[in-house]
Amino acid sequence: MSLSGRVALVTGSSSGIGRAIAMRFARDGADVVVNGRDQKKIDGVVKEITALGRRAVGIRADVANFAESQAMVERTIRELGHVDILVCSAGLFHFGPFLDITEKEWDDVMNVDVKGMFGVTQAALRSMVPRKWGRVIFITAVSGLIGVPHMGHICTAKWASHGMAASLALEFAKFGITVNVIAPGPIDTPLLAAAAERMRGIVPGSHGAPVGRIGKPEEIAAAAAYLASEEAGFTTGQVINVSGGLGI
Ligand SMILES: NC(=O)c1ccc[n+]([C@@H]2O[C@H](COP(=O)([O-])OP(=O)(O)OC[C@H]3O[C@@H](n4cnc5c(N)ncnc54)[C@H](OP(=O)(O)O)[C@@H]3O)[C@@H](O)[C@H]2O)c1
Repeated sequence: MSLSGRVALVTGSSSGIGRAIAMRFARDGADVVVNGRDQKKIDGVVKEITALGRRAVGIRADVANFAESQAMVERTIRELGHVDILVCSAGLFHFGPFLDITEKEWDDVMNVDVKGMFGVTQAALRSMVPRKWGRVIFITAVSGLIGVPHMGHICTAKWASHGMAASLALEFAKFGITVNVIAPGPIDTPLLAAAAERMRGIVPGSHGAPVGRIGKPEEIAAAAAYLASEEAGFTTGQVINVSGGLGI
């Protein structure tokens, strides 16, 4: 997929799925903003992208903070001119029985996984509307399509993001902007590695989806490359389940 001349901002791209998407977009010709909260991890991905001959800007920002999110988009525009493609992949994972979830754990999940998409998406859409072109992609999870025990807060956040994407798809269709979701199943990233043992026997597919394995971040990036492309202009408001057969 050619993304030549495009500018992409990928939240949570210092690791895992976001990193794979940032690298794929750069290989496909886009300039990329790399985001996370750890400057060292951000710098590592920026270096890999610039080695491919693309422009890359690392922006340390907490997406749970509305002002930092909006400032990240403003800096993207200052340094790279505009935002064509926004991918929201920043996310945290917490796992535990519903009766044990604390108010802080609930708030942390909502603030990163839901509010974290609001601030940056609102600012990015403002810059896309006058240009009459844009691609917004939310990375959620297959847990946004089904219920999963011990993931009441995560499921709530992912289902909420699907509602936000559907609404925005309709509101911004007339501006040439598409808004879609990729709902991954278990993907080989640091997030899954940290949680896999606790999920064993509780979360279906956490150690292997129906296709017989867990997924690779690059397999999510392939779906993102399609949704970000010119060719995907007639696809909006969709949730693409990339889970090796879970949730169907
Ligand atoms: N891996 C899976 O099996 C799987 C399955 C389904 C859905 N997902 C979803 O995919 C998304 C990415 O997960 P992943 O597996 O790629 O995890 P990951 O490897 O842990 O990467 C998460 C990224 O988000 C960043 N991040 C976290 N909180 C942030 C915040 N408040 N502000 C800015 N950046 C933040 C992290 O950087 P810092 O920590 O340095 O800030 C990191 O770059 C998440 O939404 C997750 O729920 C993952």
